[in-house]
Amino acid sequence: MKVIQTKNYQDMSEKAAQFILEKIKSKPDFQLGLATGGTPVTTYQNLIQDHQTNQTSYQLVTTFNLDEYIGLSNEDPNSYHYYMNKHLFSEIDIPADQTFIPNGLAEDLERECIEYDALISKYNGIDLQILGLGHNGHIGFNEPGTPFDKQTHIVTLADSTVEANARFFDSIEDVPTQAITMGIGSIMKSKEILLLVSGREKHEALQKLLHDEVNELFPASILQRHKNVTIIADEDAIIGK
Ligand code: GLP
Repeated sequence: MKVIQTKNYQDMSEKAAQFILEKIKSKPDFQLGLATGGTPVTTYQNLIQDHQTNQTSYQLVTTFNLDEYIGLSNEDPNSYHYYMNKHLFSEIDIPADQTFIPNGLAEDLERECIEYDALISKYNGIDLQILGLGHNGHIGFNEPGTPFDKQTHIVTLADSTVEANARFFDSIEDVPTQAITMGIGSIMKSKEILLLVSGREKHEALQKLLHDEVNELFPASILQRHKNVTIIADEDAIIGK
């Protein structure tokens, strides 16, 4: 794993955007895996800024999001559909039918999971998957204990994840307790992975990811086994001061 240390969150976001842009420019029909949460917000802002200044085109890009809450409509401000439209899609020229996010309102959720993996395969897999890191080592919504070979599946969120994400909701009772997430198996099939980590509260998780033995109780440790991982992390996350 290659680790790039940056001064701060701003710097991490700029480097991440540059990293993504280089890849998209070298392969215009790029399959980009996207993450939500607080960490990538400014990275997406930088992509938007570049689009406005340099007209980088997303006409041929296809995106696949990692996860979505179960039970929230696309118009719900806390859904990841809404998040992606607000923070990226509405500000770049990507065609709406080339952006894919699991449907947390599907009538048959099990089927939705199977079809989501099939869709990714149909597009020949993901070229670059962006990831954030949960405090408990979750990636996507793969909570501790998730078998590494799982493909897209339905999860019950850990209490600590519900608590961590409550900051985006009016109250903790409003946080959905279930989600659809790409599994570790789906994530590991990506040709390349870019993990973004910021803040001292992620220091311990980053240390575990880098140094613990690979184990299912700390899902992100699996990344040690992927051949092409870049971690862009700020000083606070790396040094933990
Ligand atoms: C959330 C998301 C993940 C995200 C992680 C970290 O629960 N499902 O995709 O990467 O937790 O979030 P944040 O970047 O807000 O710390």
